[in-house]
Amino acid sequence: ENKDSRMRVAVLTLSDKASIGQRKDESGPLIEKIMTEHGYNVTSVTVIADDENEIVSQLINLSDRCQNDLILTTGGTGLSIRDVTPEATMKVMTRNVPGISEALRYESMKYTNKAMLSRGVSVLRNQTLIINLPGSPKAVKESLDIILGPLKHGLEIMKGEASECARK
Ligand code: MTE
Repeated sequence: ENKDSRMRVAVLTLSDKASIGQRKDESGPLIEKIMTEHGYNVTSVTVIADDENEIVSQLINLSDRCQNDLILTTGGTGLSIRDVTPEATMKVMTRNVPGISEALRYESMKYTNKAMLSRGVSVLRNQTLIINLPGSPKAVKESLDIILGPLKHGLEIMKGEASECARK
Protein backbone atom coordinates (compact mmCIF):
# COMPACT_ATOMS: atom_id res chain seq x y z
CA GLU A 1 0.00 0.00 0.00
CA ASN A 2 1.24 3.48 -0.86
CA LYS A 3 1.23 5.51 2.36
CA ASP A 4 2.77 8.63 0.83
CA SER A 5 -0.19 10.97 0.55
CA ARG A 6 1.69 13.71 -1.29
CA MET A 7 0.59 14.65 -4.82
CA ARG A 8 2.61 12.76 -7.43
CA VAL A 9 4.37 14.98 -9.97
CA ALA A 10 6.33 13.95 -13.06
CA VAL A 11 8.67 16.41 -14.76
CA LEU A 12 9.26 16.13 -18.51
CA THR A 13 11.92 18.28 -20.18
CA LEU A 14 11.62 18.67 -23.96
CA SER A 15 14.90 19.64 -25.54
CA ASP A 16 16.74 18.22 -28.55
CA LYS A 17 20.08 19.44 -27.18
CA ALA A 18 19.61 18.25 -23.60
CA SER A 19 18.38 14.85 -24.85
CA ILE A 20 21.73 14.17 -26.54
CA GLY A 21 23.85 15.75 -23.82
CA GLN A 22 24.75 18.87 -25.83
CA ARG A 23 23.25 20.97 -23.07
CA LYS A 24 22.60 20.32 -19.40
CA ASP A 25 18.95 20.24 -18.38
CA GLU A 26 18.66 22.90 -15.66
CA SER A 27 14.91 23.42 -15.83
CA GLY A 28 13.84 19.86 -14.97
CA PRO A 29 15.91 19.73 -11.74
CA LEU A 30 14.74 23.26 -10.86
CA ILE A 31 11.10 22.19 -11.14
CA GLU A 32 11.90 19.13 -9.01
CA LYS A 33 13.50 21.34 -6.34
CA ILE A 34 10.67 23.88 -6.19
CA MET A 35 7.89 21.26 -6.20
CA THR A 36 9.61 19.20 -3.51
CA GLU A 37 9.97 22.33 -1.36
CA HIS A 38 6.22 22.83 -1.75
CA GLY A 39 5.38 19.34 -0.48
CA TYR A 40 4.96 17.44 -3.75
CA ASN A 41 6.32 13.95 -4.42
CA VAL A 42 8.40 14.27 -7.61
CA THR A 43 8.33 10.75 -9.06
CA SER A 44 10.52 11.30 -12.14
CA VAL A 45 12.49 13.85 -14.13
CA THR A 46 12.81 12.81 -17.77
CA VAL A 47 14.56 14.49 -20.69
CA ILE A 48 13.53 13.66 -24.26
CA ALA A 49 13.87 15.23 -27.70
CA ASP A 50 11.29 17.52 -29.29
CA ASP A 51 9.58 14.64 -31.09
CA GLU A 52 5.79 14.70 -31.09
CA ASN A 53 5.23 10.92 -31.06
CA GLU A 54 7.80 10.43 -28.32
CA ILE A 55 6.21 13.18 -26.19
CA VAL A 56 2.76 11.64 -26.69
CA SER A 57 3.92 8.22 -25.50
CA GLN A 58 5.75 9.68 -22.50
CA LEU A 59 2.67 11.70 -21.47
CA ILE A 60 0.49 8.58 -21.73
CA ASN A 61 3.02 6.53 -19.75
CA LEU A 62 3.40 9.18 -17.01
CA SER A 63 -0.37 9.56 -16.61
CA ASP A 64 -1.96 6.14 -17.30
CA ARG A 65 0.77 3.80 -16.06
CA CYS A 66 2.66 5.87 -13.47
CA GLN A 67 -0.53 7.45 -12.09
CA ASN A 68 0.88 10.92 -11.59
CA ASP A 69 -1.55 13.61 -10.45
CA LEU A 70 0.40 16.28 -12.29
CA ILE A 71 2.83 16.38 -15.21
CA LEU A 72 4.87 19.56 -15.65
CA THR A 73 6.56 19.84 -19.03
CA THR A 74 9.25 22.40 -19.80
CA GLY A 75 10.34 23.55 -23.24
CA GLY A 76 9.11 23.21 -26.78
CA THR A 77 6.32 25.77 -26.50
CA GLY A 78 7.68 28.43 -28.83
CA LEU A 79 7.46 29.07 -32.56
CA SER A 80 10.33 27.01 -33.89
CA ILE A 81 9.55 24.08 -36.20
CA ARG A 82 10.75 21.68 -33.46
CA ASP A 83 8.47 23.19 -30.77
CA VAL A 84 5.68 20.60 -30.65
CA THR A 85 4.95 20.19 -26.93
CA PRO A 86 1.46 21.81 -27.13
CA GLU A 87 0.47 19.62 -30.09
CA ALA A 88 1.55 16.44 -28.29
CA THR A 89 -0.25 17.57 -25.12
CA MET A 90 -3.48 18.29 -26.99
CA LYS A 91 -3.33 14.81 -28.54
CA VAL A 92 -3.59 13.15 -25.11
CA MET A 93 -6.11 15.48 -23.47
CA THR A 94 -9.54 14.43 -22.29
CA ARG A 95 -10.56 17.96 -21.18
CA ASN A 96 -9.14 21.44 -21.69
CA VAL A 97 -8.11 23.63 -18.70
CA PRO A 98 -7.35 26.88 -20.55
CA GLY A 99 -7.27 29.25 -17.57
CA ILE A 100 -3.92 28.04 -16.26
CA SER A 101 -2.10 28.86 -19.49
CA GLU A 102 -4.07 32.09 -19.89
CA ALA A 103 -2.88 33.19 -16.43
CA LEU A 104 0.68 32.11 -17.17
CA ARG A 105 0.87 34.24 -20.30
CA TYR A 106 -0.96 37.19 -18.76
CA GLU A 107 1.06 37.31 -15.52
CA SER A 108 4.34 36.54 -17.29
CA MET A 109 3.95 39.67 -19.45
CA LYS A 110 5.08 41.60 -16.33
CA TYR A 111 8.46 39.91 -16.65
CA THR A 112 8.85 39.90 -20.45
CA ASN A 113 6.53 40.73 -23.32
CA LYS A 114 7.95 37.68 -25.07
CA ALA A 115 5.68 35.67 -22.74
CA MET A 116 3.04 35.97 -25.46
CA LEU A 117 5.22 33.72 -27.63
CA SER A 118 4.72 30.64 -25.47
CA ARG A 119 2.00 28.42 -26.98
CA GLY A 120 1.81 26.24 -23.86
CA VAL A 121 -1.48 24.54 -23.00
CA SER A 122 -2.96 23.03 -19.83
CA VAL A 123 -5.18 19.96 -20.03
CA LEU A 124 -6.57 17.03 -18.12
CA ARG A 125 -5.93 13.48 -19.21
CA ASN A 126 -8.46 11.70 -17.02
CA GLN A 127 -7.17 12.25 -13.44
CA THR A 128 -3.85 13.77 -14.47
CA LEU A 129 -3.32 17.50 -14.96
CA ILE A 130 -0.71 18.36 -17.61
CA ILE A 131 0.77 21.87 -17.76
CA ASN A 132 3.25 23.10 -20.38
CA LEU A 133 5.86 25.55 -19.05
CA PRO A 134 8.40 27.42 -21.22
CA GLY A 135 11.94 26.11 -21.36
CA SER A 136 14.26 28.51 -19.54
CA PRO A 137 14.96 28.21 -15.79
CA LYS A 138 13.91 31.86 -15.42
CA ALA A 139 10.55 31.17 -17.07
CA VAL A 140 10.10 28.01 -14.97
CA LYS A 141 10.63 29.90 -11.71
CA GLU A 142 8.32 32.74 -12.70
CA SER A 143 5.65 30.34 -13.96
CA LEU A 144 5.61 28.19 -10.82
CA ASP A 145 5.32 31.33 -8.67
CA ILE A 146 2.18 32.20 -10.64
CA ILE A 147 0.43 28.81 -10.53
CA LEU A 148 1.47 27.13 -7.25
CA GLY A 149 -1.31 28.62 -5.10
CA PRO A 150 -4.36 27.78 -7.21
CA LEU A 151 -2.73 24.55 -8.44
CA LYS A 152 -3.01 22.91 -5.03
CA HIS A 153 -6.72 23.67 -4.84
CA GLY A 154 -7.30 22.45 -8.40
CA LEU A 155 -5.53 19.15 -7.75
CA GLU A 156 -7.52 18.61 -4.56
CA ILE A 157 -10.76 19.10 -6.49
CA MET A 158 -9.49 16.82 -9.27
CA LYS A 159 -8.77 14.10 -6.73
CA GLY A 160 -12.09 14.65 -4.99
CA GLU A 161 -10.50 15.81 -1.73
CA ALA A 162 -12.16 19.22 -1.79
CA SER A 163 -15.73 19.35 -3.01
CA GLU A 164 -16.36 23.04 -2.88
CA CYS A 165 -14.46 26.30 -3.00
CA ALA A 166 -15.74 27.97 0.17
CA ARG A 167 -13.11 29.56 2.41
CA LYS A 168 -12.42 27.63 5.58
N1 MTE B 1 7.51 33.30 -19.53
C1 MTE B 1 8.12 33.76 -18.44
N2 MTE B 1 7.44 33.85 -17.29
N3 MTE B 1 9.43 34.18 -18.46
C2 MTE B 1 10.17 34.11 -19.63
O1 MTE B 1 11.36 34.47 -19.57
N4 MTE B 1 10.20 33.49 -22.01
C3 MTE B 1 9.37 33.55 -23.22
C4 MTE B 1 8.09 32.75 -23.14
N5 MTE B 1 7.54 32.72 -21.80
C5 MTE B 1 9.54 33.60 -20.81
C6 MTE B 1 8.19 33.21 -20.72
C7 MTE B 1 10.08 33.23 -24.45
S1 MTE B 1 11.45 34.21 -24.80
C8 MTE B 1 9.67 32.25 -25.35
S2 MTE B 1 10.41 32.09 -26.87
C9 MTE B 1 8.54 31.37 -25.01
O2 MTE B 1 8.26 31.41 -23.61
C10 MTE B 1 8.69 29.91 -25.46
O3 MTE B 1 9.71 29.26 -24.76
P1 MTE B 1 10.10 27.73 -25.07
O4 MTE B 1 10.23 27.58 -26.55
O5 MTE B 1 11.38 27.51 -24.34
O6 MTE B 1 9.01 26.84 -24.54
